Amino acid sequence: MFRARPEVRPATVEVFVEGSPVLVPEGATAAAAVLLAGLPAIRETPVTGSPRLPLCQMGVCFDCLAEIDGIPNRQACMVTVAPGMRIARQHGAREALR
Ligand code: FES
Repeated sequence: MFRARPEVRPATVEVFVEGSPVLVPEGATAAAAVLLAGLPAIRETPVTGSPRLPLCQMGVCFDCLAEIDGIPNRQACMVTVAPGMRIARQHGAREALR
């Protein structure tokens, strides 16, 4: 469904989305990696369990909340990928970090 535009830099950074390797261009966001991975959802809403994927790509909708490198509630569209980054689906609500 999603593909990188042809003028985008080559995909050279390997990250892991739900444990599967995905190559993304340097400077891409974790949300872009999620979309390139082709997942049906990266999180589910806490009340109804409705599936969500990154939407606005600019930190407004919060539909991209994910667990990134073991930290839940990260806005994937606000996080730049790094080699070896692990992005995982978030189920329902998470407790606030203290
Ligand atoms: S995609 Fe909307 S806040 Fe991240």
